[in-house]
Amino acid sequence: MSQQLTIALAKGRILDDTLALLARAGIEPADNLSSSRKLVFSTNQDHIKLVLIRSADVPVYVQYGAADLGVAGKDVLREHGGEGLYERVDLKIATCKMMTAGFADRTRPRGRLKVATKYPEITRDFFLQQGQQVELIKLYGSMELAPIVGLADLIVDLVDTGKTLKANGLIPLEHIMDISSRLIVNRASLKMKNQAVKDLVSKMEKAVEESFG
Ligand code: PRP
Repeated sequence: MSQQLTIALAKGRILDDTLALLARAGIEPADNLSSSRKLVFSTNQDHIKLVLIRSADVPVYVQYGAADLGVAGKDVLREHGGEGLYERVDLKIATCKMMTAGFADRTRPRGRLKVATKYPEITRDFFLQQGQQVELIKLYGSMELAPIVGLADLIVDLVDTGKTLKANGLIPLEHIMDISSRLIVNRASLKMKNQAVKDLVSKMEKAVEESFG
């Protein structure tokens, strides 16, 4: 019998692109993940099942082996820290940039800069490298509001088209890192289920190659 694999997928904007790559790799869920309320899905491959969770939870499931593999953004992986897992394939989907953003015409305050973000680890590292002490304000979404209401001087957030910043009168300032989704593997699964994991990783590499060259 082939080794059973569980793959953790993230809800939200990366799901469609992830499913397209999985389909190219020959893995198709039995139900429609976007419309179903289910969390566990069987696939056309008897030994592969999918679980659908919040993106920030994907590395946690993979770290503890509750899922053998997962698909998560580089942003989420940097925040998690990567304990217990390997990053195996750059899937080249959900590409965007992590940036600082703020008002174009606002001079920076003399004292400590207040920075609002959903990404405290990335933000702390970035400003540390710049030798700048900042006050971090952790938010869970809608960061663009923070400078508008005076909660923060700057934000650190993902920028894709730039439309959200523009709609709120903000501009992108400094580029911190490029982001894309990655296929991650639980460290123990890589050893214990080596054949099945290797097989899936190479199928996904091929699917990326076919899709993006
Ligand atoms: C992300 C990000 C920005 C927006 C950027 O939010 O936080 O708000 O997308 O995209 P744009 O440059 O194309 O406008 P997302 O919609 O993923 O939801 P979130 O606020 O829950 O992070």
